[in-house]
Amino acid sequence: MTFFRSDLLAGKVAFVTGGGSGIGKAIVSRFLEHGAECVIASRNKERLEAAAAELSAQHGRRCVAVQADVREPDQIEAAMDQAIGTFGRMDIVVNNAAGNFLAPAAALSYKGFATVHGIDTLGTFNVSKAAFAKWLGRHGGTILNISATLHYTGVPFQVHAGSAKAAIDAMTKHLAVEWGPAKVRVNAIAPGPIDDTEGMKRLAPGGLKAKLEKQIPLGRFGQADEIAQMALFLVSDAASYVTGSVFVVDGGAWLAGTRLEM
Ligand code: HXC
Ligand code: NAP
Repeated sequence: MTFFRSDLLAGKVAFVTGGGSGIGKAIVSRFLEHGAECVIASRNKERLEAAAAELSAQHGRRCVAVQADVREPDQIEAAMDQAIGTFGRMDIVVNNAAGNFLAPAAALSYKGFATVHGIDTLGTFNVSKAAFAKWLGRHGGTILNISATLHYTGVPFQVHAGSAKAAIDAMTKHLAVEWGPAKVRVNAIAPGPIDDTEGMKRLAPGGLKAKLEKQIPLGRFGQADEIAQMALFLVSDAASYVTGSVFVVDGGAWLAGTRLEM
């Protein structure tokens, strides 16, 4: 079922990092359903290609897999050349790729911190800058960053990911201001705990889920598709005057002070 017109994204092309799994895959599925063609980019070629084949077959629309590490600007530029070469345009860019694990700050290695910032913070900049240079700067379009709420309260064992997402929120605002005149809208979604994702497998293992759900005002984890619905709205023309904003989609979790407790 869809709440939006099925041709909402007709004629558009989306480039989604980490689009072969979890929240990214759910976003790509909704984009394809609403008329877009998609390129999904990440490191694991096998998983990407399987996801692209599955989603193309499901929606009868082209979804192409391109192997690229967001930490490597050359790989991202090549992936975008391939996207634009294949589809002739690239209107929508979603920075969804991320890395995370639970680690107390005192035990986190220097490289562990740098790795998460490399994927999340630098990756988001690399992809945004390449997209602006290759298409968005001349044709306009939209960037959507996938953030988190970790840094609103200082969630323990998450200094690496929380500080990376804080930087992404800042980038959302900076780029919205700088690139607005080029008709590029830049927004972000901050998901709460999303069921059946790699993120929650890592951050809320085993019995923690039931405990956390009791603390969430809406009483449950979210579904990846509930992030995809917000993504669909934000990249569409229905949000044509929305830029520089971060939208929390978390069932009220952070307001209620939901805490990861080991
Ligand atoms: C402590 C760890 C660690 C762990 C890795 N490191 N895992 N430290 N606890 N569990 C450290 C390593 O020891 C190493 O430092 C450094 O990080 C780099 O590790 P590599 O394995 O070499 O990194 P790499 O191959 O680049 O892989 C990146 C990764 C990996 C982040 C470590 O887990 C990954 O690829 N993740 C992608 C999928 C993912 O994380 N999805 C969840 C996103 S969810 P040393 O010093 O030892 O060499 C999410 C949720 C946000 O973001 C908010 C939720 C509410
Ligand atoms: P996920 O399935 O692990 O998604 C992360 C994706 O990023 C994977 O497809 C991975 O693919 C890709 N990726 C990782 N490192 C990369 C790199 N260096 N270059 C290119 N791609 C890379 O996890 P998820 O839970 O769906 O998370 C998706 C997004 O939502 C993330 O931004 C996360 O921070 C955010 N988020 C999730 C939750 C949650 O509850 N799950 C909550 C808040 C925010 P490869 O392994 O193929 O590279």
